[in-house]
Amino acid sequence: MSTAPLRIGVLGSGKGSNLAAILRAIQAGELNAVVSIVLSDNPTAGILTLGRERGIPTEALPVSKFRSKLEPEIETIAAEKFAAAQTDLVVLAGYMRMVKAPLLVPFSNRIINIHPSLLPSFPGLEAWKQALEAKVPQTGCTVHWVDSGMDTGKIIAQAAVPIWPTDTPETLHGRIQEAEHKLFPACLAKIAEDPSRA
Ligand code: GRF
Repeated sequence: MSTAPLRIGVLGSGKGSNLAAILRAIQAGELNAVVSIVLSDNPTAGILTLGRERGIPTEALPVSKFRSKLEPEIETIAAEKFAAAQTDLVVLAGYMRMVKAPLLVPFSNRIINIHPSLLPSFPGLEAWKQALEAKVPQTGCTVHWVDSGMDTGKIIAQAAVPIWPTDTPETLHGRIQEAEHKLFPACLAKIAEDPSRA
């Protein structure tokens, strides 16, 4: 590995199992990266505990009044913290809101997300429930670049997951997450190895 490690800034709202998978890949030497900062919009999120336990600079953002986005001034704080941590790539790992201009503009083409469906099917929240209700035979997960739409950015890679007749939302989401934990670090490793990266 001749290139410098990719500096990843993570933004998440939940338990942080994707962050754990990314850290495992780094530790295993499969991903030439360092997680430079972990931010969350949810002050009680497990991802904050995980970041702290691993000794990563970890901070909760001010609590938002909105559900589906952050106030511009809070997003500006996030962008400043990512910039101060010399973040090459912002990784949305279970972030449950739309990204708006204060973060999107300074990190244009440098924000990546994982979504628990085979996009463009089932964008938005609880995509595994949407797939179950639609009675499709398979769903999966998608890693994509983030743009101003909801789960509309350019697709990087996908992994399919079968849906069994006995599945509940929980069992299906669990199986999708197993696929996420392989796909996300693999995509990040390819980006980290890209010789054209600055
Ligand atoms: C994942 O299923 C991801 O696709 C979705 O939220 C979940 C986050 O899980 N956007 P975790 O916090 O990484 O465990």
